[in-house]
Amino acid sequence: MSDFLRVASVSDVPVGASLKVVVNERDIAVVHCADGVFAISDICSHADVSLSEGEVIDCTIECWLHGSQFNLRTGEPLSPPAIFAVPTFEVRLVTESDQVFIEVATEPKPVSTDGKQ
Ligand code: FES
Repeated sequence: MSDFLRVASVSDVPVGASLKVVVNERDIAVVHCADGVFAISDICSHADVSLSEGEVIDCTIECWLHGSQFNLRTGEPLSPPAIFAVPTFEVRLVTESDQVFIEVATEPKPVSTDGKQ
């Protein structure tokens, strides 16, 4: 079971935005879409590019360099040229003193045997 690290307040990441954070020495993109807050590896699986600099479209994030879109829930690419999923991380929202904080698991979600998360 993973530990969680508090990385930001929800007010730091409005709907449609993403924020690069570092958890356990990994760069992670925290992304807020209409369905909630998600955490996905910040490094595109196609090349060493920061996904948090891409555009949030529905519940995907689009790599700014070649346009692959990644499912925020599973990390799977939905369009080429990327073919490999990126790791995803559990997120929990914690309310304290009328503020909602984002906490991200320190280890990625397990990958299933079919390569999906
Ligand atoms: S670097 Fe992300 S799709 Fe090519």
